[in-house]
Amino acid sequence: MNSIKVKASAHPTMGIVLLGGLSDPALRLPYHNSAGICYSLADRESVAETTLTITDKKMENTLNGETLDAKDTRSPFKLIDLYKEQINRKYSGHIYFNSVNRNIISGSSDAGAAALGKCISWLLPDVDKNDLELNMRKVSESAGRSFYGGLTVTEGIEKPLTRQILDESKFENYRILSVVFPHKRKPSDDIHFNQPKSEYYKKRIMNADQNVITLKELARKNQIKDIFELAMRDTDDYHYLNSLVDVKIVTEEMKVLMEEVQEIRKKMWVTYIVTGGNSVFLVTEEKDVESIRNVALEHSREIHLLKVTGGARVIQTG
Ligand code: MEV
Repeated sequence: MNSIKVKASAHPTMGIVLLGGLSDPALRLPYHNSAGICYSLADRESVAETTLTITDKKMENTLNGETLDAKDTRSPFKLIDLYKEQINRKYSGHIYFNSVNRNIISGSSDAGAAALGKCISWLLPDVDKNDLELNMRKVSESAGRSFYGGLTVTEGIEKPLTRQILDESKFENYRILSVVFPHKRKPSDDIHFNQPKSEYYKKRIMNADQNVITLKELARKNQIKDIFELAMRDTDDYHYLNSLVDVKIVTEEMKVLMEEVQEIRKKMWVTYIVTGGNSVFLVTEEKDVESIRNVALEHSREIHLLKVTGGARVIQTG
């Protein structure tokens, strides 16, 4: 029997209405609705490229060229194993996984899980997409954002589902500068398993759910600037909660930049987003990118220009 191969790519994501709090490390179900965008470096594709090969030949499973530990709790095999039987009903042979991250600055698990989900949905076109998303989130809770691309909302608690509400073309006139600070990022699970311990978390759930309702309304009217204004308010609320549970994502250096952005906003439109990593994302109109980059250079030497992108794609089969 001939071998079959499918390769898919997907971009990383960032929260617009930030996700915080997960039911447990295995199912990774949220306690509130959330929203996000898919992004890439503006001049080079930031992608996870994942290949599934079904063959009788002996191969290795690899991630970024290194042999993969299939027993890891968030291993891609947690997802592949759920579809193994169905895949082998159509194609016989061992299923091998190979994935590389290209130009991804931080946090690649969402893109990796979405690229893998795309490979599975190509091999099994009749697969239930909602079940697939629930299964992808066991590898990464934000895989749905990366799978669908553009601006997405993820709604539901027991069965959270993601859908695109604006495609990437609506963001063409906007640029995002990722201002990277030279400290190591904390695992997102510090956020997910500490936020729910706060009394304020009940309020956060209400705020996030309300922000998603408002966001959908703004998206319906194509009010892109207002979408990023909402994202900035959501960032402030999210990190206020993190500070209450001693999860310090926003360092003093990041805070200084965020405060300067608040001053600049009196003269020019710019907003910020901080997710779980060591970057402050500055959102500007394309025409103002250079001025904002000059401000950012006073704070960090590592700055990347980003743009909003679409969802996961099959890029090669054979
Ligand atoms: C990762 O699960 C979620 C954060 O990156 C926030 C977000 O992007 O919504 C920590």
